Amino acid sequence: MSTAAFPEGFIWGVSTSAFQIEGATSADGRGPSIWDTFSADRADACDHYHRYREDVRLMKDLGTAAYRFSVSWPRVFPDGTGKVNAAGLDFYDRLLDELVDAGIMPYATLYHWDLPQALEDAGGWPVRDTARHFADYAAAVFDRLGDRVDTWFTFNEPWVAAFLGYGSGVHAPGRKSAADAFRAAHHLLLAHGLGAQALRAAGATRVGAVLNISPVLTPGQVSDVGRPLSEEDADAVARIDALANRQFLEPMLRGAYPSELLPIMERAGLGHVRDGDLELIAQPIDLLGVNYYTPLVVQAQPSEPADPAFPGSEGVLFCTIPTAVTAMGWPIVPGCLTHLLRRLTAEYPDTELMITENGADFVDVVTGDGIHDVERISFIEEHLRAVRAAVTDGAKVRGFLVWTLLDNLEWADGYQRKFGLVHVDFATQRRRLKDSALWYRDVITRNGLTETRPKRPTLETVAARAGVSRATVSRVVNGEASVSPEVREAVLRVVKEIGYVPNAAARSLVTRRTNSIALVLSVPRQGGDQLTAAVVQYVTSMLEGAGKQITLMLADTAESHRRIVQHVEARLVDGVVLLPPDRGDTLAERLSRTGVPIVLLGKPAIASMMPYVDVDNTGGAKAATEHLLARGRRHIGMICGPMDLVAVQDRLDGHRIAMRQAGGQPLLALADLTRSSGAAATRRLLADQPALDAVFAASDQLAIGALQAAREAGRRVPEDLAIAGFDDIDAASATTPGLTTVRAPVAEQALALARLMLSRLEGRHTESVVLPTRLVVRDST
Ligand code: FCB
Repeated sequence: MSTAAFPEGFIWGVSTSAFQIEGATSADGRGPSIWDTFSADRADACDHYHRYREDVRLMKDLGTAAYRFSVSWPRVFPDGTGKVNAAGLDFYDRLLDELVDAGIMPYATLYHWDLPQALEDAGGWPVRDTARHFADYAAAVFDRLGDRVDTWFTFNEPWVAAFLGYGSGVHAPGRKSAADAFRAAHHLLLAHGLGAQALRAAGATRVGAVLNISPVLTPGQVSDVGRPLSEEDADAVARIDALANRQFLEPMLRGAYPSELLPIMERAGLGHVRDGDLELIAQPIDLLGVNYYTPLVVQAQPSEPADPAFPGSEGVLFCTIPTAVTAMGWPIVPGCLTHLLRRLTAEYPDTELMITENGADFVDVVTGDGIHDVERISFIEEHLRAVRAAVTDGAKVRGFLVWTLLDNLEWADGYQRKFGLVHVDFATQRRRLKDSALWYRDVITRNGLTETRPKRPTLETVAARAGVSRATVSRVVNGEASVSPEVREAVLRVVKEIGYVPNAAARSLVTRRTNSIALVLSVPRQGGDQLTAAVVQYVTSMLEGAGKQITLMLADTAESHRRIVQHVEARLVDGVVLLPPDRGDTLAERLSRTGVPIVLLGKPAIASMMPYVDVDNTGGAKAATEHLLARGRRHIGMICGPMDLVAVQDRLDGHRIAMRQAGGQPLLALADLTRSSGAAATRRLLADQPALDAVFAASDQLAIGALQAAREAGRRVPEDLAIAGFDDIDAASATTPGLTTVRAPVAEQALALARLMLSRLEGRHTESVVLPTRLVVRDST
């Protein structure tokens, strides 16, 4: 068979990190790290600390040539500095011996995010001393392990450590300050420079660093990379590229910060960047590790507030795009990896590259005959084809490491994420190879991919070869007891011989599982279109990724309700995703009586056992009202949409709470969902209360109507009348003046809904999800 071969000597392997797999967080004198403090999950992870022998054997069986792991700083220095804890280093000593015995080259990362808590208590990465302590730590580790490590990486993904750890606070240590994030980034770079120097001084021959480099492009460029951009979009792309990528690439490889970054960094003050720092940072490196998962898709959007993970990103909208996504919700765009590798080769031609992380989280189904993670295989395969295309063009890519060997503890997301080639049952710590592991083993043996994908054997082939009916094959595949041991054995032999992967049809032939999910949409109401579109896109993509088929059903008439209930009663679907359950209609309730799992978008009117996804309507309305009060407004009117909508009731509650706390009286006007009714309600409010100085509308559409009515009445916004809305629909940022509003996260609701459905299908206990809302202040207040 012809293969799409990789260059001779191409290095195949896997990556892991200490905190995500080791467990044993207090063994042998290890000190606490910021992730022990921050994580809400049990820290025993994969217990790799005690099972490393088994894990090295797994890698050996896969044929991996290289293993990238990280050393846990708090194992080596429990307090971050001071006296070396020799017992902590013993573990890596044993691990390295095992790897060397197995013929696997060790690639060691010194910092994969697990800062000793003692150093965070002393100020963490925003403090310069942390970089010096890192250099001492690097030297101590080299001293003990230097003879067996092939390549040293100083750190992993400094952008994440600095901007998610100190900027948005979604990672440890959970601090939220733009200034601290920039300081942390600089000191991580400095730590890289000092660490690289210390390693070389001690005799290291191969030193590098690992960056998460995300290609930045506009939605239009996703399918057409070369598409020309407007000046505004080009500026948005350049700014995010500087923040995410060039902030690290340029100092490390060229000894300077990118010029467009300086004005942003200056806002946080530049006092921490000292003379000589940049020369120190630009130590020559032997290898740049590239982690790639998904691109950043942005476009210019005036008056968009900055994303806290990207301080300085005002006026840039981070977009969702209509592509397939992984269970993380990350768009799958393999072509961007080719583009990225070409770019790195063009801009930094002397730098050798290695893909140090690439892989995907998908929902795995464990069956009696294995874990057939076809999505993961096709994800990695597509990305390998992308790497090969770049290599053919001359990119110096030396190897590819899959993220990751084992299902593990995925940081703030805990154990629900499944990135492993190997499944881990966390109750027993049993390891089981997924199909992707077996497939990867073949890729390694071949040093490449098959030119064309082999045609997948079907249920019929198995039945014909084994001389049994399709239903019998299906029974065996589903592990049913009604098949004789001899027949079972014969079928399984054929399954193995021809590498048959059972598909949905085989599974559903004899089980009651249909593998279909109904996505039931009520007639989209005005304003809800954005959310409905996102839900359709994400729910479909995620559930299809998990092997389900989606049936879209419109619930618009009494007749259609009857049909939907019948369909579900007949068990033609395994589950129902219903949106939105407003207007107190009884569809949700009738469906719930069928016993088929149901999840709802939006809190139902009547409390029930059905789990739902909603946003914090009460909290958002309270925040908007408090904002108006803080701007000195006292005569605030609220425009309520239809009161049968639960979201409107909750928004009214939030408004009332804030007014009551301020000792004010709510003044209400009712409307429907339209702009014109928002305008009419505003006119009534102005007539009832001539001193009216602010309007809070239960939705942006109503608020846009209020803006119109204010203009007609000759009231200036915001001088005479401040106006705030709710939802942050696209139009809200395009009004004059831009509308202050409460953002209800769109993609997040859709993703949460898909996840909830999957958990319910797996029979797990599920609770409703209420996502936070965020006030977005624009010029209308
Ligand atoms: C990368 C991290 C790695 C893992 C993957 C999914 O950003 O380096 O530890 O979390 O993402």
